[in-house]
Amino acid sequence: MRTSQPQTIYLSDYKVPAYLVDTVDLRFELFEDGARVHSTLELRRNPESDEVSAPLELDGDSLTLESVALDGAQLAAGDYEDRGDQLVVRSVPEQFTLTVVTWIEPQNNTRLEGLYKSSGMFCTQCEAEGFRCITFFPDRPDVMARFRTRSNGNDVERGELENGRHFVTWEDPFPKPCYLFALVAGDLVEKRDTFTTCSARDIDLRMYVEPRNAEKCDHAMDSLKRSMRWDEEVYGREYDLDIFMIVAVDDFNMGAMENKGLNIFNSSCVLASQETATDLAFQRIEAIVAHEYFHNWSGNRVTCRDWFQLSLKEGFTVFRDSQFSADMGSPTVKRIEDVTLLRTAQFAEDGGPMAHPVRPASYMEISNFYTLTIYEKGAEVVRMIHTLLGPDLFRKGSDLYFERHDGQAVTTDDFVKAMEDASGRDLRQFRLWYEQAGTPVLNVSDDYDADKGVYRLTIEQSIPDTPGQTNKKPQHIPFALGLLGQDGQPLPLKLGAGEADAPTERGLELTEATHSFEFHGIESRPVPSLLRHFSAPVRVRYAWSREQLLFLMSHDPDGFNRWDAGQRLAVDVIQSLVGAPDDAEIEPRLVEAYRKLISDTELDQALVAKMLQLPSEAYLAIHRARDAVLRHLAGALKAELIACYQRHQGGGPYEVTPEAIARRSLRNTALAWLLMIDDQEGRELAVSQLSAADNMTDRMGALRALVNSGFESDRQQALDEFYDRFKDDPQVVEQWFSVQAASDQAGQLPDIQRLLEHPAFDWKNPNKIRSVVGAFAGQNLAAFHNPDGSGYEFLADQVCRLDDSNPQIAARLVTPLTRWRKFAPSYSARMKSALERIRDKSGLSRDVYEVVHKSLAD
Ligand code: BES
Ligand code: ZN
Repeated sequence: MRTSQPQTIYLSDYKVPAYLVDTVDLRFELFEDGARVHSTLELRRNPESDEVSAPLELDGDSLTLESVALDGAQLAAGDYEDRGDQLVVRSVPEQFTLTVVTWIEPQNNTRLEGLYKSSGMFCTQCEAEGFRCITFFPDRPDVMARFRTRSNGNDVERGELENGRHFVTWEDPFPKPCYLFALVAGDLVEKRDTFTTCSARDIDLRMYVEPRNAEKCDHAMDSLKRSMRWDEEVYGREYDLDIFMIVAVDDFNMGAMENKGLNIFNSSCVLASQETATDLAFQRIEAIVAHEYFHNWSGNRVTCRDWFQLSLKEGFTVFRDSQFSADMGSPTVKRIEDVTLLRTAQFAEDGGPMAHPVRPASYMEISNFYTLTIYEKGAEVVRMIHTLLGPDLFRKGSDLYFERHDGQAVTTDDFVKAMEDASGRDLRQFRLWYEQAGTPVLNVSDDYDADKGVYRLTIEQSIPDTPGQTNKKPQHIPFALGLLGQDGQPLPLKLGAGEADAPTERGLELTEATHSFEFHGIESRPVPSLLRHFSAPVRVRYAWSREQLLFLMSHDPDGFNRWDAGQRLAVDVIQSLVGAPDDAEIEPRLVEAYRKLISDTELDQALVAKMLQLPSEAYLAIHRARDAVLRHLAGALKAELIACYQRHQGGGPYEVTPEAIARRSLRNTALAWLLMIDDQEGRELAVSQLSAADNMTDRMGALRALVNSGFESDRQQALDEFYDRFKDDPQVVEQWFSVQAASDQAGQLPDIQRLLEHPAFDWKNPNKIRSVVGAFAGQNLAAFHNPDGSGYEFLADQVCRLDDSNPQIAARLVTPLTRWRKFAPSYSARMKSALERIRDKSGLSRDVYEVVHKSLAD
C-alpha cells in the first residue's frame, strides 16, 4: 500500500546498474499457507558503472525477509536494512554470493503480480516489476542472469510426470532479465507435440491445462507450430531451447506472457473448441500464441534496456504477429482490423490526458504504459520502416539487429540504427515518431489544370499539442497513393512530364510541413486514393464528396481504401443526422451502396463482411444517429438481408477457414441488422439458429442478435438456456456476461448490478471484471453515458473497490472516464466529479493515482 506520493521516473535519469547478477539459484518451498523462497545470487560490481562505492540495493515488494547471508555467513540485523521496498547492504566486496530467504503468501495475492494462486495452481507473473514480489532482486531488465529453479513442497511436489505430480529443476542456459522468470505448479494435464526446426532439431512442445480443458488445446498447438515455421521462413529465426511450454491459467491480468520457454496464457486467450470459442476467439488465440512465441527473439534474446524502451519489444512483436496473421488469412481484412483498433482507441489515447510518445520520457507506474500507443502505434512505426525500406532491406535490418544485439538489453534507438546501417537510409527525422506524442494531421488539397493536364496535391502536416509537448517538428511520413480516372481505371503517376512506365501507385515521403506533388499527363480530374493501406498512423483530411467516396467504394484497387471510403461515407451520413428530426431523410446513395454490397457475390466475402460493419460508436461517439442509420438501412434492405442470410446458411461441416469465417460473419451481421428493427422473420431465424448451432460463432451471433432486440421474452429465455448449458465453462460464461453488459437492451445499470451479484461473477477474476464492468463502460455507451451520471458513479465505485485488491485492473477500468473533456458540459462535469471521487479515496494505488491525476490536470 502506498504511503507517500508516487514518484515520477525519468528516462533522462537512466544509469547502468551498479551491480550485475551472473547467476540466480531459486528454491521454492510451496505450502498451503505461503511459500518460502531461497534465492542465491552471484553478484559483482558493474565495471561500467561509475558508482564505485554504491551500496547494494535490491528491490522488494510485499516480502517478509527471513534471512540474509553474504558469502555463506548470516548477516546480523545491523549489516543490512530492510526498507520494505528495498533491501540495502552497505558493505559488500567486488564479487560475492548473497543468499536471501523470503516468505510470501501466494494464496492472498490478489494483485496477480509475482507468485499467486489461481484455481489451486501456483503461477507467476513477473513483467514488468513482479519479480520483486517473489524475492529481493535488482528488478530491471538490463540485469540479465542465468536462472536455475527448483521447486518442492508437500502437495505440489513435481517429479517426472507421475499422477500429475512433478518435481522440477529448470535451468535456463540463456541469461535473461528477471521479468522473464516463470514457475507453475499444479495438478495439470499435459498435451504433447513436436516441431522439427529448419536445422532438423526436434523441439518438445507441451501444453499444461486443467484436466477439464484437455480437449481445448489443439488450436493453440497448431498455431504454435505455424508460428515457429513462419518465424523461420520470414525472419530466419529458429527456436533455441529443446522444449517449449504453454500453460493456461484462469486468473491473469493480461492476455499472455512470453516467459522464456514457458509462456503463460490467460485461459481465454489459448483454450478453444468449436462448441465454446467464436471465430474471433480462434483468430485471437492464433495471434497471441504467435505474439508470445515471436517474443523469444524480439524481447527475450534481445530485450529492453529499461521500461521506456517497452515498444522495442511490444511494437516490433505486434508488427510481427500482424504480418503473420495477414499471411495466415486475408491481408486486407487484417489491415482493416488493425486500423480500426488504432483509429478508435489509440487515436483517442493520443488525443487525451494520457497521451505519450512511443518511447515515453517519464512514468509513475510502468503497468499503466502497456498502452495502445506502445503496442499499436509502436507497431505502425515499425511498419513504416518496413514500408520505407522495402521487405528485403527490412529483413537485412532485422538480421543485423538480432545479430548485433543478441543477448543484450537495448533501446529503440539501437533498433532504428540497425535498420539504418543495413539499408543505408537516413532515419534521423524518422526517429521523431518515437519522441513526439500525438496523431499527425494531414490536410490534403488538390487542384487540376485541365490545359496542362497537371494534377497537383498539396499536403500539410501538423501535430497537435499533447500534455507537456507543444510546437512539434514535422515527421517523416510514408504516404502511399493512387489516382483513379473517370472510368475507374488507375492512372499512371508521372511525377515528371516526360516520365514513361510510371507506376499506378506510389509511396511518397513527406518530410516538410508542406509538400506539393504534381502528376503529369492527367486527362481529366482524377479521384485521389490517399494513404493507401493506411501507410502511416495519421488523420487524413480531404474534402471528399459523397460522389467520390461512392466511386472509391466500388473502384479503388486498394481493398483497404475501398473499405475506408465506405467508412467515411457512413460517418459523413451519420454525422449529418446528429440533431436532425426523427424522420429526416437518410442518404439514399448510402442505402444503394449497401444494397449492392450485400448482394455482391464476386467481391471477397470477408471484405464485404467488414464493409457492412458501420463505424463503431466508440469511434463516432454518437449513439442515436448511428442507431437511426442502422435501423433505416435494415428496414430498406430487409429482402437483401434475408437473401444474404440464406445464401450463407449451411455450407457443409464446420471449418475455421477464412471463407467459412466470412460466411458466418456475413450471416450473423444480416441477422443482427434484422433484429435491430425487431423483424419477425429475423426473430424466427435467430431462434432456430440458436437451437441448431453446432459452433459458438453461430450460437453467439444468434444470442447477441436476440439480446440486442426488443423481443424481451425471447431474450431472457435464450440467456437462461445458454447459461444453463455452459455454466461450467468459465470462458463461455465470460462471453455470456459481456454480451449482456455491452447491450443497451439488456445492460442497463440495474441489470449490471444483477450481473455483479450473479454466482458466476468473481471479483478476483480479471476476465469477469472486464466482461461486466469493462464491457459496460467501454461498449455500452448509451447506458454508461446516462445523463443522470449513474454510469460514471457506478464505474467510480467499482474502481475504488478494486483499487485495493487489483490496482492494475482498477487503473485500466478508469480509461473511459479519462475522456471527460471531449463531452458536452453536463456530461463532462459528472465524469469529472466521478474522477475526483476516485482521487479522494484514501490509500489510492500508484496505478490509479497516476491515471486519475493526469486526467484531472489542467
Ligand atoms: N509481455 C506482454 C504481457 C504483459 C504485459 C505482461 C504487461 C505484464 C504486463 C505480452 O507479450 C503481451 O503483449 N500480451 C498481450 C497480447 C498480445 C497479442 C498483444 C496482452 O496480454 O494483451
Ligand atoms: Zn508482447
